[in-house]
Amino acid sequence: MRKHIIAGNWKMNTELGEALALFTEVKTMAKAEVDLSQVDIMVFPPFTYLFSLKQLNDTALLIGAQNVSWEDKGAFTGEVSARMLRSVGATHVILGHSERREVFGEDNSMLIKKINVALENSLTPVFCVGETAAEREAGKQIDVICKQLKDGLFQLEADSFKKLVLAYEPVWAIGTGLTASPGQAQEIHAAIRSFISGHYGDALAGDLTILYGGSCNTKNAAELFREPDIDGGLIGGASLKARDFIDIAKTLTAVKNRK
Ligand code: PGA
Repeated sequence: MRKHIIAGNWKMNTELGEALALFTEVKTMAKAEVDLSQVDIMVFPPFTYLFSLKQLNDTALLIGAQNVSWEDKGAFTGEVSARMLRSVGATHVILGHSERREVFGEDNSMLIKKINVALENSLTPVFCVGETAAEREAGKQIDVICKQLKDGLFQLEADSFKKLVLAYEPVWAIGTGLTASPGQAQEIHAAIRSFISGHYGDALAGDLTILYGGSCNTKNAAELFREPDIDGGLIGGASLKARDFIDIAKTLTAVKNRK
């Protein structure tokens, strides 16, 4: 069974007071308004607030990290290990985000190590793929994404691969207000599923959750979520407003239950 997920990527936003207030609002609204058996709601705050949010969390909300070190422990100044993340309550970690690939130079060899260490420590990777505007203009989007999947993930055994959550995030849509049209997003989601099916089989590919991310908001969520291969959203900007974030989660459950 495919899980439906709404994930909020807070990126490098909020100070402590704001983070606590935002999480409190999200959890209060989630409890009152969302059937959490129908959708997993997860938030990815900066590292510094993970523990405080875990302490506040008296719901089924899930909390994840935006990054992890591939090292286990030791002399790696500034790094945060998977085991540390587990110990403060994180269950998920975003990997392969285009901001980490582009701004911080994370390449496939680093991502493979991070995925492995996350899985070894029972942290679920939310692995992002997506093409740039230039790659789309050149008609290479599907090739680029299949290569990201193959180079980043296909070293995994099926038993590990099936634990992943994937996110399609066209780089040109992240934080820009431009969104992939439902048709464009569905085309890529279906291509991802079919490419994975070719390597791991139909059953595994059919059960995989693939999120859409890139300027997803309360206005465009319903039409995106109506597409059969879009199983939820990875939400950046709109996840910083509790009302919008929860409304997007409610949209997902409403759209998927209508089918
Ligand atoms: P956005 O970010 O919703 O602000 O475009 C999405 C993301 O980067 O995960």
